[in-house]
Amino acid sequence: MRTRVTELLGTDLPIVQGGMQWVGRAEMASAVSNAGGLGILTALTQPSPDALRDEIARCRAMTDKPFGVNLTIFPSATPRPYAEYVKVIAESGVKIVETAGRSPAEHLPPLKQAGVKVIHKCTSVRHALTAERLGVDAISIDGFEAAGHPGEDDVGGLILFAAAARKVRIPLIASGGIGDGATMAAALALGAEGINMGTRFCATKEAPIHENIKQALVNAGERDTRLIFRTMRNTARVLSNDISNKVVELENQPGGVAFEDIRHLVSGERGRDALITGEINAGLVWASPVVAMIDDIPTCAELLERIMADCKSSLGKAMTAFDAHIG
Ligand SMILES: Cc1cc2nc3c(=O)[nH]c(=O)nc-3n(C[C@H](O)[C@H](O)[C@H](O)COP(=O)(O)O)c2cc1C
Repeated sequence: MRTRVTELLGTDLPIVQGGMQWVGRAEMASAVSNAGGLGILTALTQPSPDALRDEIARCRAMTDKPFGVNLTIFPSATPRPYAEYVKVIAESGVKIVETAGRSPAEHLPPLKQAGVKVIHKCTSVRHALTAERLGVDAISIDGFEAAGHPGEDDVGGLILFAAAARKVRIPLIASGGIGDGATMAAALALGAEGINMGTRFCATKEAPIHENIKQALVNAGERDTRLIFRTMRNTARVLSNDISNKVVELENQPGGVAFEDIRHLVSGERGRDALITGEINAGLVWASPVVAMIDDIPTCAELLERIMADCKSSLGKAMTAFDAHIG
């Protein structure tokens, strides 16, 4: 399949695996790239810029296809040395970066100078247009369904993808709530030229997470995610478990809760431990209602082949019905 997204990324398929903290390691990214999509390493999963350099080399040894690096820029009590991560990416010869979290403005000059194509992931049309003006090469737009940080506007993908397609001129990638061929077909029909998935890729053979967590994704349904940090205007979508349910309960109590009082529950390290040990209630597990479409744990190659075939047949069925109706 050929779109402006495949042309930009140099991939066979217009399917991107979005940055995923603790999951976006070489095993994951190389498997997606080898299957024809774009795999993405997550920079901040690595403890230092030097460790990212090693991880990029490890990924390169596992695939000769293009892959990217996600740089998630969030205000934090202990900010990471973003400029140094960017330097490593530029020096390592990686040609695609997914930025997210905040405006990529300050990091664009060194990336552009190194010939890196930048996909900026955001959650609103206005931020997409700002990034387009700044000179990014593609927009990945996350609907309210997305795992991770879906923003504060609460606009679902159906509207957001269509609204973005009306205004954004550079290639548009739809993200959030996409997990099978039918949802990919919908995104293409709405004007996107590619899709980005997170949750679906967590339930694949190559995802570097414990079998129990993958099985929990298979077992979960569309009502099994929670929105936490709403009261802090830093909304995050995660799987429903003891920790996320507790956080929602504390946020909803009279007077709410201060972040300091839940920090111990929601730390990134606890989330990482849950993914590694398979203890579902050990920490936050990021996931979207795409779990409703997850019935098995295929390889990335099987998954992408199936999604492409189902996408084509979904579009074909709609066309057949359309033609039959109007004669
Ligand atoms: C386990 C997990 C971790 C994630 N971590 C990040 C991250 O560190 N940075 C980021 O930009 N997005 C992150 N995301 C969001 C994904 O890149 C993607 O935008 C989102 O999952 C799309 O929605 P979907 O899960 O419905 O496919 C994460 C998603 C998951 C499932």
